[in-house]
Amino acid sequence: MLCIPEIDEHFALHALKELIKVEKDWVPGAPGTSLYIRPTIISTDVFLGVRAAHTYRFFIILSPVGAYYPEGFNPVKIWVTKRHVRAVRGGIGEAKTPGNYAASLYAGEMAHQQGYTQVLWLDGVEQKYVEEVGSMNIFFVIEDELITPVLNGSILPGVTRDSVIALARLWNIPCTERRIAIQEVIDAQKAGKRVEIFGSGTAAVISPVGTIKYHDEVVTIGNNEVGPLTLKFYEALTDIQYGRTEDPLGWVEKVC
Ligand SMILES: Cc1ncc(COP(=O)(O)O)c(C=O)c1O
Repeated sequence: MLCIPEIDEHFALHALKELIKVEKDWVPGAPGTSLYIRPTIISTDVFLGVRAAHTYRFFIILSPVGAYYPEGFNPVKIWVTKRHVRAVRGGIGEAKTPGNYAASLYAGEMAHQQGYTQVLWLDGVEQKYVEEVGSMNIFFVIEDELITPVLNGSILPGVTRDSVIALARLWNIPCTERRIAIQEVIDAQKAGKRVEIFGSGTAAVISPVGTIKYHDEVVTIGNNEVGPLTLKFYEALTDIQYGRTEDPLGWVEKVC
């Protein structure tokens, strides 16, 4: 989408494994910590102007990290904005590129000023349907249905989203990828239905959402407690990641 040539996947994985072997002493051991891996590619053209680049540098940043949110695995507060748009279909919303984050900074600051952790983005056309959170995809449990916004071209097809869907299939939990209006979620909560909301992302893993603010309305989700399905996904993913359980889907890659 940004005219960057594709990186050979096998080469990148091999390079990554070699790098981790060299830097293995930086892998933290305390619970809830990990070695964050951020493959990056930038243009190295000596040029000022607007066109696709001709030369690039690919590199991998490693960093030991703790929990992504100060809240840890506790419900976060999310602000739903109708005033700002992050991405639209046909744009670059589904690409992992800083441009998308640049478009999100102003609303992110407004969220922080009101005491909210991140912004929940709505679709850029009708500003009705849920897209994703600042750095997470989003899931809803309404009664017995697990729902996540369908990949429509303007949201990131996150690997953790994919993992949640794969685990749900493994456990025979129906997961629907569809358009979901924010009002549907609020109405379900108000009608006393069982509602859980959680975000999914590499850094956040699974992050429960306990409060959403939409217009001037503040809605508490599931008594601001971690829902049972949210906890099940969190435990399953982290158990696989930390090698505490069998990896049923062949995701674990042994490095050294
Ligand atoms: C905008 C956005 N959506 C979703 C995600 C989750 O993607 P993944 O699960 O691949 O980390 C991220 C992660 O950084 C993100 O920045």
